[in-house]
Amino acid sequence: MSAMEDKITSLLAEGKVFQPPEEGSAQAWVKSMEEYKQAYAHSMEDPEGFWAKRAEELVTWDKKWDKVLEYDLSIPEVKWFVGGKLNLSVNCLDRHLTDGRRNKAAIIWQGEPEEDVRVYTYQMLHDEVCRFANVLKKKGVKKGDRVAIYLPMVPELAISLLACARLGAVHSVVFGGFSAVALQSRIEDCHAKVLITADAVLRGGKAIPLKPNADEALETCPSVETCIVVRRAGNEIEMKEGRDCWWHREIHAKDISSYCEPESMDAEDMLFILYTSGSTGKPKGVVHTTGGYLTYAMHTAQWVFDLKDNDVYWCTADLGWITGHSYILYGPLGLGATALMFEGVPNYPGPDRFWRIVEKFKVNIFYTAPTAIRALMREGVEPTQRWDLSSLRILGSVGEPINPEAWMWYFINIGKEKLPIVDTWWQTETGGIMISALPYVTPLKPGSATLPLPGIDAAIYNEEGKEASPNEGGHLVIRKPWPGMLRGVFGNPERYKKAYFNRYPDTYDPEDGARRDEDGYFWIMGRLDDVINVSGHRLGTAEIESALVAHEAVAEAAAVGMPHPVKGQAIFAYVTLMSWAEESEELRNELRQHVRKEIGPIATPDVIQWAPGLPKTRSGKIMRRILRKIAANDFADFGDTSTLADPTVVEQLVDTKKQMG
Ligand code: PRX
Repeated sequence: MSAMEDKITSLLAEGKVFQPPEEGSAQAWVKSMEEYKQAYAHSMEDPEGFWAKRAEELVTWDKKWDKVLEYDLSIPEVKWFVGGKLNLSVNCLDRHLTDGRRNKAAIIWQGEPEEDVRVYTYQMLHDEVCRFANVLKKKGVKKGDRVAIYLPMVPELAISLLACARLGAVHSVVFGGFSAVALQSRIEDCHAKVLITADAVLRGGKAIPLKPNADEALETCPSVETCIVVRRAGNEIEMKEGRDCWWHREIHAKDISSYCEPESMDAEDMLFILYTSGSTGKPKGVVHTTGGYLTYAMHTAQWVFDLKDNDVYWCTADLGWITGHSYILYGPLGLGATALMFEGVPNYPGPDRFWRIVEKFKVNIFYTAPTAIRALMREGVEPTQRWDLSSLRILGSVGEPINPEAWMWYFINIGKEKLPIVDTWWQTETGGIMISALPYVTPLKPGSATLPLPGIDAAIYNEEGKEASPNEGGHLVIRKPWPGMLRGVFGNPERYKKAYFNRYPDTYDPEDGARRDEDGYFWIMGRLDDVINVSGHRLGTAEIESALVAHEAVAEAAAVGMPHPVKGQAIFAYVTLMSWAEESEELRNELRQHVRKEIGPIATPDVIQWAPGLPKTRSGKIMRRILRKIAANDFADFGDTSTLADPTVVEQLVDTKKQMG
């Protein structure tokens, strides 16, 4: 065991609670446990009063609301700040032109090549956003139209979102790592009028073409009239006459002005759709609206990251995920902060890339994912020592439970045993952080997301819908509406109700398992539905399975998660072949490539096991519990197997797995 592992083990064995730093607490937005408790109590007694005060303090409204909240979770229907009017690009840009921040850096962009850096002041960003909004307008985009965005982490991505918000168009960002098929199904679902993409993505020192994926997707997307292409790598691409145009040409056209009148939006007008995986069927288009979402993103960014005007704040997520939407863009820019945006990956050109950037820009607040920490942990401590990390004051984590070893490594080597780590639990659906420490307030326990934020009525319910006792595992639930919550599943109200409000009456069900300890701290255990969390990315087993069965040689398939040291979970797929098909290594590779093409590289199965049959109940339901155990080499106890239609199937699968190792 290395000295570092030794230290981590011994600190953990003490069951230590780490106290928040005293230095800085006097200036913090929330200064003490007392203040937190008061705010929490106020928010539970008078939620409307609490949120109205935050919405007033943080957001610039064109017209104030008539009513703070209208809701009925049994429908479900939730409306915040009813009758209020505002524009998000005005809140993120225009108002900072007159509040002393005009020449302040809004976005510092670090490209994948080290020398590729661009800085946008609030004025510059405002002008670019206006120009691009005028381009979209020229292409016929109006309030309510959907715009699909499929871009690498370039500044044009942030500009696109804000330009849509300026016009009241609804953006739907599709992560640049998704395949043509995944892009196509999302565009089709939301009937986007315009697609914004790029020639290529720069990743790990290579240019990976992106436009061919867009071309393939658009072959069967008649709703898309215009495709705007950002030039990133300069690779040769095809431009379709009448449909495709270059970003740089359009934005610099003579008739494009650097001012665009913002559309005054209703608080409950749709702001964006973001697709995420659920247990059944296709990904869900999670809908977020305008006034509540902005209030919530800003409120949480301010309290959880203690954002101040002098900070350089860095969230390493991609804007293709909710974390990027709320904590690179809307939260920080709403607050007039300086956000760093990074195009590259943690380990290229070396495992010290993150730390080098921290030193280069004197980053103060750093927010990343456990999977990145675990990957960097493998590289040892030395890369963290090459750079000066003394500018840091707060560390954050998001995306999946952070295992205590990774927490300790982060705390010791990056936090130098003094910085607070805010482990933030939330979801695409929640719009912003729900359970998290406050950096100068909450005593920390490695591996626990700690306590719910003010305004969040979180609890653990057992199967009967009663509150669980301390340390009893159960379903995490949220009992009161909050401004950042999703307002629907695009085009599918039934799915909205069924997926989130069906288990317990009038209660939001995030489908996560958790327990609360004797101090009331939450310990999140992970998904309870058929969703696999690979490197902090949600993938539905149903999506992977339907990609597999779409291959002609596959008769049936079942995908489960298995423990993985870096990714958290890896994908293990059981495949039953058609009778004519033969098991072979080639076919295994072909199937992996096939899933990659259907969904994207993140969905590639790590292991495929041939299965002559799958363990099913007599009613035909696959018993995934058994499949998960076999994948994890845990053959000791399969629990109740009395409902299995054919128990010999399990024996066969166990034998094959034992041979595979
Ligand atoms: O299972 C929880 C896990 O990620 C899920 C949400 O995934 P997604 O919508 O993609 O959003 C990720 C970024 C907010 C949750 O249902 N999760 C997220 N953060 C944590 C977490 N699990 C434990 N601890 C966290 N801090």
